[in-house]
Amino acid sequence: MSYRIGIIGAGFITQTVLITAINDADGLSLAAVLDSDRRAIEAVSRLSTNAVCTDSEEEFFSVQLDVVHVATPNNLHEHYACRALSLGMATLVEKPLADTVAAGRRIVTAHQQSVAPAMIGYMSKHNSTHRRMEALIAEGAIGPLRAMTARCLGWREGNWRNKRREAGLGSLGDLGIYPVLTAVQLFGAEPTSCQAVVWPSGDPEQTDIFADGTVWFSGERYLHLQSSFTFHEPTPVMVSEYTIVGSDGFMHVSGSWAMDGGGYIELWNRNGHTVIKPAPVNPYTEQYLLLAACSRGAPVPPAVSLERGLSDLAILCALDDSSANGGARIEFGSDPVGLGSGSRRQSQIPGQVA
Ligand SMILES: NC(=O)c1ccc[n+]([C@@H]2O[C@H](COP(=O)([O-])OP(=O)(O)OC[C@H]3O[C@@H](n4cnc5c(N)ncnc54)[C@H](O)[C@@H]3O)[C@@H](O)[C@H]2O)c1
Repeated sequence: MSYRIGIIGAGFITQTVLITAINDADGLSLAAVLDSDRRAIEAVSRLSTNAVCTDSEEEFFSVQLDVVHVATPNNLHEHYACRALSLGMATLVEKPLADTVAAGRRIVTAHQQSVAPAMIGYMSKHNSTHRRMEALIAEGAIGPLRAMTARCLGWREGNWRNKRREAGLGSLGDLGIYPVLTAVQLFGAEPTSCQAVVWPSGDPEQTDIFADGTVWFSGERYLHLQSSFTFHEPTPVMVSEYTIVGSDGFMHVSGSWAMDGGGYIELWNRNGHTVIKPAPVNPYTEQYLLLAACSRGAPVPPAVSLERGLSDLAILCALDDSSANGGARIEFGSDPVGLGSGSRRQSQIPGQVA
């Protein structure tokens, strides 16, 4: 029997990759789509003729669904994720988990009170290049890890992503999240401190369009990251690359955070220089298939849990907060989510409910 997916938000990600990911896979079907914009509804109903496409939240939730995928602007993740979870429905929440740490915490609480499985939409974890890189590190190809430098740069049209009230964070939440979620996984630890320069910084209306920061881990290991949006590109572009340095070698990984599921690895170690290009898989299909397995009782891997999404959001908010405080180094306690410097400052934005 097919796994019936309902998507909330019929915009860029849904039209560009999600519908294809469902249509191309055995065992998945798109059952319903909800969007407040009639043009978006019309566009998806042309791409998926069997789905109920509606602008009525009540009609959407009356359709028989196995999972709800929340793919709206970040400030709406909380409302829809909490409703789906309260109805006991499996839920996939797009990254970043929410616009603020406080909202993210409420989503995690709703999940803890629900019996349903839930995941964060970290499609890069399902990318074949990422999986190969993880395996190489586990095999000891470059020895114990020391440092990572990463750039995730993209083009955006100047929409809700650039508005603090709707997005929370800008390039940091949209693109800087990939270096952070990758480094936390590779170093296998929560960070100890962070520091950043972000521009514009501390602006109550606009989100960041450029960020340059460092996140430290125990043993003086660190991630140095850059994220940015540019508005002057006629076609969408993306630079996504990082270098990870170990005691016995290093790797350069390109394209594993891109939406096309591709990428390649260059490895330098005692065996010389090797280029590895795994066959691409569709990371969005893989993500749905994993959640379908979790709906049948398999555990949700911690790397894609909502708790992980919340911790990563707290790290990103702390980078933003560091810049707003003149580049101050922010020390994390044993619980980065509880630290709350990012959440405190964001909750003070006028009109924003903490
Ligand atoms: N994992 C990935 O690869 C990836 C890629 C792109 C975007 N995203 C995430 O997906 C989410 C959506 O991003 P996008 O680029 O598709 O944005 P988008 O602006 O293109 O689409 C958002 C859609 O949500 C709809 N919407 C707005 N208010 C609504 C409401 N109250 N109820 C229902 N629908 C509403 C809009 O009309 C729009 O169609 C964001 O959280 C983003 O960070 C993830």
